Amino acid sequence: MKAVGVFPGKRTVELVSFDEPNITSPEQVKIRVLQVGVCGTDREICDFEYGTPPEGSEYLVLGHESLGEVVEGGSTGFKPGDLVVPSVRRPCTHADCVACRAGRQDFCYSGDFTERGIRSQHGFMTEFVVEAAEFLSLVPPELRDVGILVEPLTIAEKTLMQIQVIQQRLPWGLTPGGGAPPRGCHRALVLGAGPVGLLGAMALVNGGYDTYIYSRSRTPNIKADLAESFGARYISSQEMTVAQLAAKMGNIDVVYEALGASQLAFEVAQVLGANGIFVFTGVPKHGDPITIDTDLLMRNMVLKNQVIVGTVNAGHNAFEAAIDDLKTFNRRWPKALRALITGRYPIEAFREPIFARSGIKNVLVMEAK
Ligand code: BGC
Repeated sequence: MKAVGVFPGKRTVELVSFDEPNITSPEQVKIRVLQVGVCGTDREICDFEYGTPPEGSEYLVLGHESLGEVVEGGSTGFKPGDLVVPSVRRPCTHADCVACRAGRQDFCYSGDFTERGIRSQHGFMTEFVVEAAEFLSLVPPELRDVGILVEPLTIAEKTLMQIQVIQQRLPWGLTPGGGAPPRGCHRALVLGAGPVGLLGAMALVNGGYDTYIYSRSRTPNIKADLAESFGARYISSQEMTVAQLAAKMGNIDVVYEALGASQLAFEVAQVLGANGIFVFTGVPKHGDPITIDTDLLMRNMVLKNQVIVGTVNAGHNAFEAAIDDLKTFNRRWPKALRALITGRYPIEAFREPIFARSGIKNVLVMEAK
């Protein structure tokens, strides 16, 4: 069986081959991998800046965004042919980690969690995998060609759930069941127009937010057209300063950071509006320290009731919400959804999507029969 292996010791990324895995207990499912997405985390792992092979292995099989088809469901209820998306993080083993013991390893306290394709567990850039049923979500057949977007969308879903909890403090105009944002708190700014940013913008538009995307490329460009096609407004940071953007938007209620660059993020944090929520999702490279106006930030946070929140990974509920939202996006914006996937490569050509760094979402399409 072929797989993409990262060897941090000898600093190489190679096609490796190893034995097909088999089910060893009744709660496991054997899956044929159909597609694997490539993201910034994979690039960092291939630059040997991040990522850890499983204990005893010289290499880490890459890939944490995947879509697969069940070939053997054991006694789990999953049937051959079912489409599934596995989550990424697996719990730590500490008895006192209430998050992991509650199945919410995305909030792990100990830091000893593992992550498939990232940290101490092989990932999905291979032909078959075996996974415990509890870590799988069922994807309906109509999402077969876009189901690979579930995992990157979970970042926005976990964010939206947290925003809804925080907005409970603004008790006017709330929709029962937590649907649309409260009245007066509906302007969202997305930083970055990569897959996480664009999917986040779709989720925000769909959630009733007046959504702007702030990104580098000048207009017109493909991402700007795409954003406009699903109802978000694209603004280039080369054409409008942060201050001008804030003046144009009015009160900025939510910032969804999907950039991984701290300097611009903190510049934007200074224009966050009253009762605003700033959500960080990016993991910046550790560069040189920068100067920021901490007095202004702290004054604003207090005097404007602001919340700054960081979010990572996602629980089962965010995977379910992502699948639900993808169904809706598929009805509302089928073209825009498909336009997010810009490149499809066979496993042998894995270097192209990882190292070429072009397009929006690039995926490996596995060929195993
Ligand atoms: C993945 C998350 C993971 C994070 C940190 C992201 O690219 O989507 O599941 O928790 O990297 O390793």
